[in-house]
Amino acid sequence: MFSPTSFSIYYPNLKINIYLCSYIKQIAMDKQSRYNELISQIKVFANDADTPISVLSNCAAVMKMIFPEEYFWVGFYIVDGGELILGPFQGTPACTRIKFGRGVCGTAWKEQRTLVVEDVEKFPGHIACSSLSRSEIVVPLKHNGVVVGEIDIDSTELATFDDVDRQFLEHAAEVIAPYMAKLAIPL
Ligand code: SME
Repeated sequence: MFSPTSFSIYYPNLKINIYLCSYIKQIAMDKQSRYNELISQIKVFANDADTPISVLSNCAAVMKMIFPEEYFWVGFYIVDGGELILGPFQGTPACTRIKFGRGVCGTAWKEQRTLVVEDVEKFPGHIACSSLSRSEIVVPLKHNGVVVGEIDIDSTELATFDDVDRQFLEHAAEVIAPYMAKLAIPL
């Protein structure tokens, strides 16, 4: 039976041990508990001592670590005038520019609300950065009521995201938005 103690005998590197134990713990936790962990981790990484790019990069990394299977692609788009530009992310290479009102990202920006897409093929104008993406959630980051960027998450399964994801990711968005605001050029 796996236990941290016996594991340490074979792998004395403490850092690897802690990392693997926490990874296994994440998979065993239910979705709500993992989101609570995600929010508390994001609050640690969202600090003024680091640059906004570093904050966004670590937030993307921690999100991917906590949802390694569900989040095929997770990252940020930054508002830059009339378009979104690709920010820090974890996953396969992605579209670098998305115009206001285009695709799921541009539509969420235009409508200033979270979009949960159960089947991307049924979303008119969906932009396919990867043919493996089947469902998606896009959460606008608002600072002083203005959209400054977005969290975009893709899954390889249909209907991965629901209202639980929306609620927790909107909370995460509130924590991250002030850092995104330092990079954005609002429309
Ligand atoms: N699917 C998005 C494009 C971004 S990628 O998913 C990373 C869209 O339709 O806007």
